[in-house]
Amino acid sequence: MDYRDYVRPKYVELMQALGLEKEFHRARGSKLYYRDAQGAEVAVTDFLGGYGAALFGHNDPQFVDAVCDMLRADVPFNAQMSVRSAAGELAHQLSDALNGELNNSERYISTFSNSGAESVEIAVKHAEYRRQKNLQQQFDEVDFALAQLLASDKAYAELDLDELDLPSGLLPSNQSYGTLRQLVEALRQHNLELLHSEPVFIAMRRSFHGKLVNSVQLTHGRQYRQPFARFGLQVEFLDPQQPEQLQEMKVRYRRDWLSLEWQGEGVQLRRQPFSAITGFLLEPIQGEGGINEFPAEFYLAVRRFCNEQQCPLIIDEVQSGFGRAGTLLASSQFKLQGDYYCLSKALGGSLTKIAATLIRASHYDPDFSYIHSSTFAEDDVSCRVASLALQRLLAEDGAMLKDVQKKGEYLKASLVELQQAYPDVVADVRGRGLLLGFELHDVTGSSSLVQASAQYNDALGYIIAGYLLQHEQLRVAPSGSNANVIRLEPPACITFAEIDGLIASLQKVCEMLRRRDAFPLVAGVCADLIPEVGEREGNFQEQVSAPKPDSAVPVVARVAFINHLIDADMFSDVDPSLAALSAEQKRVFIQRMAPERRSAPIGPVLIRSRLGTAVEFTLYPLCMDSNAMAEYIASGDLATIREEITNRIRDARADGYSVAGLGMYTSIVTNNCQALAVPDMALTSGNALTIGMGLEAIEQGCVKQGLDMAEETAAVVGAAGNIASTYASLLSEKVDHLILIGSGRDGSTRRLEKTAQLIYADAAKAIRNDNFAQDRLATRLQQLPGVSELIAQHGDSNDLGQRLFRHVGEQAGENAFITVSNDLQVLKRARIVLCAANAPEAFLGADHFAENAVICDIAVPLNVDQALPEQRADVLYMHGGIVQTPLGDGLAPNVRAYLKQDQLYACMAESVLMGLSGMKQHYSYGDISREQVQQIRAIAATHGFGLAQFKTANSL
Ligand code: F0G
Repeated sequence: MDYRDYVRPKYVELMQALGLEKEFHRARGSKLYYRDAQGAEVAVTDFLGGYGAALFGHNDPQFVDAVCDMLRADVPFNAQMSVRSAAGELAHQLSDALNGELNNSERYISTFSNSGAESVEIAVKHAEYRRQKNLQQQFDEVDFALAQLLASDKAYAELDLDELDLPSGLLPSNQSYGTLRQLVEALRQHNLELLHSEPVFIAMRRSFHGKLVNSVQLTHGRQYRQPFARFGLQVEFLDPQQPEQLQEMKVRYRRDWLSLEWQGEGVQLRRQPFSAITGFLLEPIQGEGGINEFPAEFYLAVRRFCNEQQCPLIIDEVQSGFGRAGTLLASSQFKLQGDYYCLSKALGGSLTKIAATLIRASHYDPDFSYIHSSTFAEDDVSCRVASLALQRLLAEDGAMLKDVQKKGEYLKASLVELQQAYPDVVADVRGRGLLLGFELHDVTGSSSLVQASAQYNDALGYIIAGYLLQHEQLRVAPSGSNANVIRLEPPACITFAEIDGLIASLQKVCEMLRRRDAFPLVAGVCADLIPEVGEREGNFQEQVSAPKPDSAVPVVARVAFINHLIDADMFSDVDPSLAALSAEQKRVFIQRMAPERRSAPIGPVLIRSRLGTAVEFTLYPLCMDSNAMAEYIASGDLATIREEITNRIRDARADGYSVAGLGMYTSIVTNNCQALAVPDMALTSGNALTIGMGLEAIEQGCVKQGLDMAEETAAVVGAAGNIASTYASLLSEKVDHLILIGSGRDGSTRRLEKTAQLIYADAAKAIRNDNFAQDRLATRLQQLPGVSELIAQHGDSNDLGQRLFRHVGEQAGENAFITVSNDLQVLKRARIVLCAANAPEAFLGADHFAENAVICDIAVPLNVDQALPEQRADVLYMHGGIVQTPLGDGLAPNVRAYLKQDQLYACMAESVLMGLSGMKQHYSYGDISREQVQQIRAIAATHGFGLAQFKTANSL
């Protein structure tokens, strides 16, 4: 798609994820039209209304005719630097209209531009221009007086500075005496600094004034503003709940010109105060910030403040004005008068791009008209259409404005009825005229993971908009800075029937939110696969509530666990309202979530130690399945997924978590945590305990099968990797003989030998530490002639393992403790088998294994054909270990996957143990050593965590 590839890459992806990607080829009145897959035209009722710009409806015929007529009449488009009478007439009409509504009689001078943000920037620019001129004048007066003192015969008079009450910092703090000249120079410097000080603007919390370099600094939303903060416009954001901030700002931005006056024999310091505040920007009703009005007395307080501070009040009516709120200016409804007004959006008759900054003539600096200009401003077509639009608005004693009021009241009353019927869903209904907000309650903690995640990602209103567009033929949008507020700004030509239609659809939204039903939302995202939502029944509210052990146990750490879906089909376990989706639909939905994979955290649950402490354990899921993870690995592009994992860990850290376990593929794609750089977080892949529990499973499996490990041969298939070789090393402590089996591919024998050498080195370490009583290999190794000498001689050298390997081979020959082979047939000699080969599909089956064998398959994907258990009742086949928690704690039912309520996967349990034992460092990070496995097994035992059962399903 060109629009995605050449215009807005990420944005289009997001729209796709929300079911909002539609191309409208035609628009008229209150409708926009797109074509469905069969090419049929589908009409959508527009309650978004161009973020307020479409007040006159789409392509109003009168305005369209006017534009066509003008173009056909060759009205000049490029007539810059000439008399623009259309602009003149429009400005005159606007000035009269403002006076009419405000009961005023002042001329307003219009500076025209092309967008709302530009109109704001013009206001800011003019305010600063005026300020500079004023300051210069004041400075000149004060400076002139000071300069005169220097010329007087008192210039060198000695002054007692302590008597003068000078501001600190003006002169060195220890200086008590100085000449008049010195003091004057310091004062002139002070005044000069004031002259060159930067402007300060005040705007409101949740304000939106545009996204250009300066206007974006006046826009409260951090995500828009923060990256550009260094451009530097200084802005204070005022919280309307704390009007006392105004007083505080008065004090903070009071500046004093300093001068001196002779009085009798001495000099007196004179302070002439002024305010550094350059302008105050206010949307009378905030649009993008969530349709917010302020208390009536607040508007008055603002006006008073601006009068006192002598700074202009810049009223941004870009969205609220020009009829949107039912009057020409929304501010007139609050009896608020501004010094500047910004208009745009509907000003162009919902057809042309035009904006106007109107400034009271008494505040306007005529020089500004000379230094500010824009190529496309003041064009005849836009200005004439705007004039027609203004006439339309005011015609017949404001009939259109009254219509807007009437429809607005009807819509608002209908929304309030919905709120009364769904107080648990609808938080508030706000606004005036056709500028209304419908606020939904926060659904954090919803038992629907899709809903909770939409909330978590600040996308609830967007995903609802996607549903309404795809299934209800309605266009709405949330306000950008508060996605729980659905903005309703339909054209004035909206009909009462269309309003009723909207209310019926919003009622469905309320129902789905109340019942925690995410199916319609998924159907919005996947409308191509789910063309009909149908009647929905069932309440999913209570189904997945997490077990809450009531416990006064002290929480010693907060542990996060980064996970993902094992299989897309399991998504309906996590969100039970999605049971009706097919596996394919779930897969597609999850795939479309790719631009925003952060699911809402699930938890916390309390996991207790038997020692009387506990950790809070929370999942931070990535909305993706194992296949998507495997695709990252196959593609070799790990940067994106690593960044997503990093962000999850950061989320957890921001929520106060100090340990993060990496589950499933997240540890693999991060090279067992090593590819992550997140300060102040102890990380673990959980591999040490996973190995430990796998080993325990083998041990218990042997008991079950009646095998004495010390008598048995164990085989490790694919013994080259770190995990497999650590397993092999640990097995070597227990068994009679170990066979390392490789693929036979290039270098396989060498890699296996390397593993054998590592195992010998581990054993030698145990011997040197005199800690090998339980270690069968070490015990026997030590008894072999020549070994003690080798260890004594080469104990510290890196090649000890290699030497031992060679030595044992020479001494024991065929009977060496460890043998290396590329032949799968030797598997038959082993009754303990660990499978850890890296192979794209299963390659071991019923024919490969010895009678009564214990087989532990830890490979991903599995090495053993899953038909084996059915074909070979004699063998015990398992997938590693699951951990039993000591006091019955476990995950919420919807995220247990294959676990029982008092179980955790070993990798999870390791992160829990890190928390319980107060570890602040990474644990299983990179390669795992045999000591790490032993240590974590000991910690697990201390806290009462042990092997639960053999894991016999594919649950990673
Ligand atoms: N001021 C206000 C009050 C606005 O609502 C907007 C835009 C602007 C200025 C900037 O106008 O986009 O023409 O440069 N508001 C839109 C919104 C985008 O989402 O409400 P622009």
